[in-house]
Amino acid sequence: MSDIKKIKDDFLLKLKENLDLNQVNQIKTELFGKTGLISSQFKQLGKLAEDERKKFASDLNLVKNELENLITTKINDIETKEINKKLEKEKIDITLPERPFVRGKIHPVSQVIDEISSIFSEIGFSVEEGPDVENEYNNFTALNTPDNHPARDMHDTFYLDDAKKLLLRTHTSPVQIRTMLNDKPPFKIIAPGRTYRSDSDQTHTPMFHQVEGLHIDKNINMGHLKGCLNYFIKEFFEVDKIKMRFRPSHFPFTEPSAEVDIGYEIKDGKIVIGEGDKWLEVLGCGMVHPNVLKNVKVNPDEFQGYAFGIGIDRLAMLKYGINDLRAFFDCDYRWLNHFGFDPIDVPTNYRGLSR
Ligand code: PHE
Repeated sequence: MSDIKKIKDDFLLKLKENLDLNQVNQIKTELFGKTGLISSQFKQLGKLAEDERKKFASDLNLVKNELENLITTKINDIETKEINKKLEKEKIDITLPERPFVRGKIHPVSQVIDEISSIFSEIGFSVEEGPDVENEYNNFTALNTPDNHPARDMHDTFYLDDAKKLLLRTHTSPVQIRTMLNDKPPFKIIAPGRTYRSDSDQTHTPMFHQVEGLHIDKNINMGHLKGCLNYFIKEFFEVDKIKMRFRPSHFPFTEPSAEVDIGYEIKDGKIVIGEGDKWLEVLGCGMVHPNVLKNVKVNPDEFQGYAFGIGIDRLAMLKYGINDLRAFFDCDYRWLNHFGFDPIDVPTNYRGLSR
């Protein structure tokens, strides 16, 4: 039996066995590697006489092709088997129940801040922010609040140091000061945010929210203030008509000062805004005191304007029928699910609790 025939028979037999990829590759090297059996046979060609060479070469090529094809098929088979095995293992069981998908809710206070901001931005107000931890100057002195004013009392204000220089801001009015110190008039801003006072009952919490408004320009008068607040209340409560009353009041940083009440009545146990003969206080306001303008280097003979401070939590309670302010800050998830708002971009596969 010739060498070629022997190689062929041996390897056909070997390749019939159950082999893994490594073993097949090893056989491949044994045959076709640099010093492989088939490769060595090709090297013999030169030593043969011409008439023998032709036949030998053709036989050798046949064997080479046969073995090569067999090896390629074998490798393909093994690889396909491995892929199938992997697919089998990684198969996704689509009959499994899905994990519960619960989406968060927007807190009524955040919702109302967004509503207020968009209503005021329609008439040219921009939104400013100030820190919760304020200094005594911005919170009181610059706002024309005398040293002996009761608002400065320890019972009302949370001081953060013994010298009473740092405090948790008691209103959003210090943002008026920050804004005017930072820029030149005219100013037309609102400033929503957290405020703090030592108070706690059904309608008062130590932390609450206000939105400050400030409009300073040449020739701004109380008519502008009334028009602005009238527009805001109507937009906010989504009513065409509103009953509004300006009651004389006092704030050190405005002159004259007023507190604003809106008319309402109770119909079927629900508050209806804009009708009836009951009054509800919603905000404080007035024309900015000349002393405040002087403190921020704005000339009161040239510029003047109005300011207001609205209680956000109270507006949220009124609009959305929530009767205990303390629940706003209890972090009770059930309460939030009931009174909270869905984000606007609710996906179509949304499965959370809805309002
Ligand atoms: N800062 C006042 C308060 O907290 C409200 C207010 C703001 C009044 C602006 C007048 C002008 O009660």
